[in-house]
Amino acid sequence: MPNICYYDFYKAKGSPENIGANERRIRLYLAHWGLQRQPFENTLDLRFLYLSSQHEEALSRLSYVIESRKEAAVLTGEVGCGKSLLCRTLMHKLSEENYTVGFIPNPQYSALEFLQALLFSLGERELPEKKLPLLVALQKKLGEEAEKGKHCVAVIDEAHLMSATTLEEARLLLNYQFPDRIIFTLILVGQPELKDLVEQNRPLDQRVFLKYHLFPLALEETAAYMTFRLKQAGLLENVFSPTAIEQIAAVTGGIPRRINTVCDLCLLAGYGAGVKQINADVVNAVVT
Ligand SMILES: Nc1ncnc2c1ncn2[C@@H]1O[C@H](COP(=O)(O)OP(=O)(O)O)[C@@H](O)[C@H]1O
Ligand SMILES: [Mg+2]
Repeated sequence: MPNICYYDFYKAKGSPENIGANERRIRLYLAHWGLQRQPFENTLDLRFLYLSSQHEEALSRLSYVIESRKEAAVLTGEVGCGKSLLCRTLMHKLSEENYTVGFIPNPQYSALEFLQALLFSLGERELPEKKLPLLVALQKKLGEEAEKGKHCVAVIDEAHLMSATTLEEARLLLNYQFPDRIIFTLILVGQPELKDLVEQNRPLDQRVFLKYHLFPLALEETAAYMTFRLKQAGLLENVFSPTAIEQIAAVTGGIPRRINTVCDLCLLAGYGAGVKQINADVVNAVVT
């Protein structure tokens, strides 16, 4: 393989002075592989969602929690496993007609700010500054939505970053149910330590109907994941050789975000070298 600086190019992709030149290179890279778009971008683009058996199971169980009006669920997984993408998919599936969904991507707030953020995410723009009127406003909002026939759902991503106090505030909101039915479901999503955090709050833990942990992809799933993403980007054959796939599964530990990065680097290296198949040597060259 010629000695090309594909890694530097990759890192420079976003720098303003290179944008024109880089866009041209990306077009050439796509043309080289017969791709319509980049297959391994680390974005939350639902077109690229690959439903592994675990992702599918998680989605169906979380949907069940919401549809059957349970109070709370916890989704955990290592960084880069697909939790945020799964949240997006779940929220996408909930019809506007029947659900009001609040999403908090980062809950590193004081308890008061957290309540404000939640009220805001549920669509309110008047946010009381003091706790008591804020709680009243939240209770009112949940009640009004319920009267309109809409179930409220709060999805909190990166919930392992919540302080015990903020988590307790979230738990207390679960008391605002109607006497005869649940009107509000809390979905907590975060890294594995979230499980311990929730277990330390016993009243919350008791209300959690489902805990689901997403594991990294196994070898066959890694291969299927790569094939799927290539197909979604317009390439029908998997240009990675079986040994390249094994190597990628090993070096990434089956973590989708890492798989994306390594695959992207490999395609770039393959384009630079003018080859049409990625073998284990290319993988080794980009990861070392
Ligand atoms: N099931 C999946 N299908 C397609 N892409 C995925 C999947 N899981 C993860 N990814 C990719 O990996 C990246 C990291 O996923 P993300 O949901 O942000 O992980 P986490 O929230 O667990 O850290 C995403 O940008 C996405 O491109
Ligand atoms: Mg995430």
